[in-house]
Amino acid sequence: MNDFAGRLLAWQREHGRHDLPWQGGTDPYPIWLSEVMLQQTQVDTVIPYYRRFLARFPDVGTLAAAPVEDVMALWSGLGYYARARNLHRAAQVIVAEHGGRFPASAARIAELPGIGRSTAAAIAAFAFGERAAILDGNVKRVLCRIFGVDGFPGDKAVENRLWGLAESLLPAREVGRYIQAQMDLGATLCTRGRPACARCPFATDCVAHREQRVAELPTPRPRKAVPRRSARYAVIVHDGAVLLERRPPTGIWGGLLALPEIPDAGGDAARWAGERFGLDIAGAQTLAPLTHAFTHFVLELQPVLLGVASPRGQPRLHAADDGALCWQPLAARADAALPTPVRRILDALAAPDLFSAG
Ligand code: ADE
Repeated sequence: MNDFAGRLLAWQREHGRHDLPWQGGTDPYPIWLSEVMLQQTQVDTVIPYYRRFLARFPDVGTLAAAPVEDVMALWSGLGYYARARNLHRAAQVIVAEHGGRFPASAARIAELPGIGRSTAAAIAAFAFGERAAILDGNVKRVLCRIFGVDGFPGDKAVENRLWGLAESLLPAREVGRYIQAQMDLGATLCTRGRPACARCPFATDCVAHREQRVAELPTPRPRKAVPRRSARYAVIVHDGAVLLERRPPTGIWGGLLALPEIPDAGGDAARWAGERFGLDIAGAQTLAPLTHAFTHFVLELQPVLLGVASPRGQPRLHAADDGALCWQPLAARADAALPTPVRRILDALAAPDLFSAG
């Protein structure tokens, strides 16, 4: 990519935002206030709060001397209230430790409460013209797309790479306007959903656009590991039919027919099944487990094949059967309301080699 900064600056002159109330000045105090308000809040929402706040607290000294309740009251409705408490504390630090003068470098600004590296750089660039790179959410998105950076930008390694990229792209002059241009591009064209690539000055160079990966970049946060649960299921087959139990109406597979679930406290599966169903169980054989992904967890199903020592014909079930149990002919399983993993187990059971063997 050649002359990224020059092209971005040219775009900003024509299409950037030039009349935001915090633009144009070099007093770090209102710039700081606007950057903190804009950390988690949209421009349109911030503007009236910014004006009211500045009217009531026109400088660092006034803010530092104000009761924190007054500061909170003027922040009320903006959300993320730690920002307001930190702003007030930082004002007091500036008065107590910097003689009331705003620290004049990004590195010193970043030492104040509530100001990270990117916000400190933005303030220093806007107020003092310091050549410091920013890397907020908008800039991360723009860089990941244009330069085809893979990996979740919240990962330390990816973030370090993006910082390096952001610093390497800084122009020698007009850093403040360049940083405003980065913010403007991210906020108005290279948006998260439905970016306006047709109007983007980098559309021909943008890796994401060229490879049609705009919707994939930046890489989303990796999904948290989902919890795993496992349960044993009784597979009782006799004379071409399998014993199924209707699930309770709530919970997984609500109302569907499934293999009876052996409770965790069921202990020996053959003994449990014998007592639960009133059957004469001849032996137990653990079959290959399978997994099934639900939205919030992964279930490992452990089927336990239980042999019934009875003559031909379906054995009568225990008197305790409440109507939830039934013998499902395997040949007719296609018509039964079965959960997918149960159907897979029954399909495996019905495989001819298994039956020809038994
Ligand atoms: N978001 C963060 N800082 C901003 C600024 N200075 N102008 C517009 N949007 C912003």
